[in-house]
Amino acid sequence: MAASAVLVWWGLRLSFLAGCIAIVLTRLVHQIPLSLEQSGSTTTQQSFCYQGVRTDTTASDQNVNCFTVSDGRFTRVFSSPVETETNDEGEEEVEVQSGYVLPGLWDGHGHLLQYGEFLHSVDLFGSQSVEEILSRLRAYVDSHPGAGSKDEWVRGIGWDQMALGGMPTADMLESDPRLKGLYMMLDRVDVHCTWVSQPVLSLFAPGDIPDEVPGGEIIRDPGMGVFCDNAMDLIMPLWPRPDRTKKGVFLRSAMKELHKAGLVGMHDAGVFPHDINLYRTLSEENPEEWTLRVYAMLECKERNTFCPEDAVRYSSDFLSVRSVKLFADGALGSWGSAMIDPYSDRPDTSGSLLVNSSTLTALTQQWSDVGFQVNIHAIGDLANRYAIDAFESALQKICPGGLADCEKRDTRFRIEHAQIIHPDDQTRMFKLGVIPSIQPTHATSDMAYAEKRLGPERTSTEAYRMKSLLKLTPVLGSDFPVEPPNPFEGVYAAVTRKNPHTGQGPKGWEGGWHTEQALSLEEALDGFTKGAAYGAFMEGKAGVIKEGAFADWVVLDKPLESLSVEELRKVKVRETWVGGRRVYAREDEDGEEVKDL
Ligand SMILES: *[C@@H]1O[C@H](CO)[C@@H](O)[C@H](O)[C@H]1NC(C)=O
Ligand SMILES: [Zn+2]
Repeated sequence: MAASAVLVWWGLRLSFLAGCIAIVLTRLVHQIPLSLEQSGSTTTQQSFCYQGVRTDTTASDQNVNCFTVSDGRFTRVFSSPVETETNDEGEEEVEVQSGYVLPGLWDGHGHLLQYGEFLHSVDLFGSQSVEEILSRLRAYVDSHPGAGSKDEWVRGIGWDQMALGGMPTADMLESDPRLKGLYMMLDRVDVHCTWVSQPVLSLFAPGDIPDEVPGGEIIRDPGMGVFCDNAMDLIMPLWPRPDRTKKGVFLRSAMKELHKAGLVGMHDAGVFPHDINLYRTLSEENPEEWTLRVYAMLECKERNTFCPEDAVRYSSDFLSVRSVKLFADGALGSWGSAMIDPYSDRPDTSGSLLVNSSTLTALTQQWSDVGFQVNIHAIGDLANRYAIDAFESALQKICPGGLADCEKRDTRFRIEHAQIIHPDDQTRMFKLGVIPSIQPTHATSDMAYAEKRLGPERTSTEAYRMKSLLKLTPVLGSDFPVEPPNPFEGVYAAVTRKNPHTGQGPKGWEGGWHTEQALSLEEALDGFTKGAAYGAFMEGKAGVIKEGAFADWVVLDKPLESLSVEELRKVKVRETWVGGRRVYAREDEDGEEVKDL
């Protein structure tokens, strides 16, 4: 009670003051960077004051409204409405700017290059028919001369056979006169399947396409064209991969777009060794353009292997490499996730593992032996069980005397997605301290069909847990480009368990889907700040505004706690700052920066 009264008071007072400054006096004081000559090098120190600063997502210490930044770090966090600050080095005047500050947000699971590529490809998300897909492809081809040649395939992402009424085929693309003969590779919404055109299929010599691929599926009904999971490895070598220059363009587009959403950093959930090298080169050589903090999980050239020659730890303020990504199974949408018991809507299958349990355990062992955090993609309850088995056996080796007071146990093993977990295994996660890396918008995208796949019992005890895993410091993210990267949509999905695009729950769940698993606003924000930081060994450094932390912050028009739940999903960030540099400023309709209230 008292806290919120203070909060309202400060809000009123500061907005009143800011209004006065902006309107009546135009500018009372100016923001003057203070330069200090230090043994030849210049250190810039600058202070910022806002109407409110939320230094930490849980504590609402609303008396704080200013901070000082030096060399990309916060060096002081303080409270000072409009008074002039003086210090020994000289005088610094600080303008109170309108806006409310949050710590910079992180996406705990995304794919940076793929997202950049997505921004430069055909958006098929939400398409409701094959005809709609063909029309989007035609529009793209018309506006991108040369697209679809043998060297420059048309790429797309976002189709879903459930919306199309069945699996698509190469013939469907070939039947369109405008698209006939073009090389195309279109990923399913969850990127676990890809749909290619006839010219791509024609690259295979007769008999080159095997009948079956272990851990994958070649769809043959109603016709050829779609390759899932491990079968995608047949297509990938044929695709003329973007070169480094093109990848640089993708990465810059991705960073810009992510900053727009309020993101200052992300966990890249699977980066090939050569791309890690590219990240290193670009971030070291073009620090001006590399504006996003990336925690990259190494993915060996050959999936689910140990590649010690590529296990190079690296750490700078903008790129950190010390983890590996392994894959236990596929996705729920295509019945690819590995279940203990068969699917409720397809009793003939319980999905498939991409790797067997003994290999998964051996790999986890090998990677943790070289000091890498092991992050396993696991969706189905069997995949999650095997991931936990693997972690347990690695921990037993690390801590032969038991887990209780084993100092070396700081492995922070993670399960990426952690979507469907048997209750027994949820209990084991707590015992072992396994971090769940959760995408709240996956829950709200899958809720329409999840119960059909899983049945009511598994759905209510195993699926898309959030609240009951809270003590494990969940990392929250979006899995962009699978879902949009906007963290406020993720926060909304976590808080309401409703779809952030429609504001709706599925039929029969209008008030939100299994809201017993919903998080509070603070808990959800934690997942995008402190949880993400902990999952990347960056606690105290990222996701918080305090002395010594990265000077990363986001400016909003209104304090978050003043927004209604429905406003939450539509939050538009005003500014994003990374390392004390403004990397995004929203423009109004006239192209002017939004400045004052
Ligand atoms: C697991 O897979 C590996 C590699 O594919 C294979 O060598 C091994 O025999 C398999 N183990 C079991 C128990 O199936
Ligand atoms: Zn992913």
